[in-house]
Amino acid sequence: MELDELLTVVQKRFRPYDGKLPAHTALPDHGMAEAEVLDLLKRVEGAEERSWKGGFVSGAVYHGEREHIRFTSRAYAVASQTNPLHPDIWPSLTMMESEIVAMTSHMLNGGERARGSVTSGGTESILMAMKAYRDWARAKRGIVEPEVVLPVTAHVAFDKACHYFGIRARPVPLGEHLAADVEAVKQAITPNTIAVVGSAPCFPYGVVDPIREMSEVAKDRKVGFHTDACLGGFILPWAKKLGRRVPDFDLALPGVTSISVDTHKYGYAPKGTSVVLYSDPEILHHQYYVAKRWPGGIYFSPTMAGSRPGGLVAAAWATLLAIGQDGYLALAKRVLDAADEVRKGVAGVPGVRTMGESAIVAAFTTEDRDIYQVMELMSQRGWFLNGLQNPPGVHLAVTLRHARRAVVRRFVSDLRWAVETAGIAVTASGLAPIYGLAGTMPDEAVSEFLETIIEWMYHAS
Ligand SMILES: Cc1ncc(COP(=O)(O)O)c(C=O)c1O
Repeated sequence: MELDELLTVVQKRFRPYDGKLPAHTALPDHGMAEAEVLDLLKRVEGAEERSWKGGFVSGAVYHGEREHIRFTSRAYAVASQTNPLHPDIWPSLTMMESEIVAMTSHMLNGGERARGSVTSGGTESILMAMKAYRDWARAKRGIVEPEVVLPVTAHVAFDKACHYFGIRARPVPLGEHLAADVEAVKQAITPNTIAVVGSAPCFPYGVVDPIREMSEVAKDRKVGFHTDACLGGFILPWAKKLGRRVPDFDLALPGVTSISVDTHKYGYAPKGTSVVLYSDPEILHHQYYVAKRWPGGIYFSPTMAGSRPGGLVAAAWATLLAIGQDGYLALAKRVLDAADEVRKGVAGVPGVRTMGESAIVAAFTTEDRDIYQVMELMSQRGWFLNGLQNPPGVHLAVTLRHARRAVVRRFVSDLRWAVETAGIAVTASGLAPIYGLAGTMPDEAVSEFLETIIEWMYHAS
């Protein structure tokens, strides 16, 4: 496929409403009737964007049952006008945030000294941890050229953090079973290392890194260790209680000095919250921002944003309270059982090879077909899977949306069909060919291509 063709496909995918819905590139002269506006929203939702409801989407929506949405939306509505930036006006938000931190810390074995913050999502939790380590290392160890050691499977948010905060990323290769190689981690630590990172589990394959061993190395070398449990933090503790074999990964390990965990993934809160926890308040203090002499007043804020949506804090808090320990245990069982079924089904498809052992992710590639053609064919059957690269692959992150026998059966039978069909000419209409093409283009051309896409996506015309 040529680049121009792919750009057209991508444009259709990302901007399907061009020419179909009225464009609004200036404020309407007169405000529209609320009913009319709501109707526009309904048309969008009704037209193209409900595939997650039927379980056709990897990750993205982790709960999604109607009653749950209704409940969390009500909690949001109660606090929709509030803002944790003003703790004097809304001390209830401070209370809720501190309780969200306390409840997640309890779940992840944070001790007496564990502290943390509510952020806007996994990426912000990771950004904050990396910023805190950078400033902590500068203050305590005089490090001015900070480095972070991270397996190549660590979430790209760490790379983003390095990019934003002037930290050098030192990626290390994987060892056996697509988990981080402890020896490689050891070798990569230098006097400038501020922290080592491990995932529980990683996004691409859902594999849990050897956190115990990695964090011991970090402790011996007196550097921080961050467990990224954004994906698994609300699943692994319950998997362990259900009797599954779960490697240690949380703040119970003496070398783990911070952990990120997403309330908006398997915590089942609406999108827009996560938690970052530290084993000790000293590190957290390097996350905070304070301004003492600003003409606008004394200002302090714990995370990146200034104003923040109190409604999302209330909705996350309400979700944790309403589900509770017994609820998370029961929901984890449904997710884990569904993931077992998906993985078993995938492994049974001729020509497919699974990638990594995981409790919640089914990652796979093909023996002799083009996996991106398989991904493309799956998208033509309505599936939204995640493309993987280096090496090529695809994954389905299993959520409650997949915890129905019919969904799993459909996925496996569509995959069987896609693998059989791949190799016969496939006309692309989805995004999978990006991977094939990107693999053949120089780095700069890929960046330019992606920047063009971003420009298109966010420019209404
Ligand atoms: C392991 C892991 N870490 C971090 C993130 C980033 O989370 P977010 O998309 O909420 O910023 C993800 C997202 O899928 C993830 O899987």
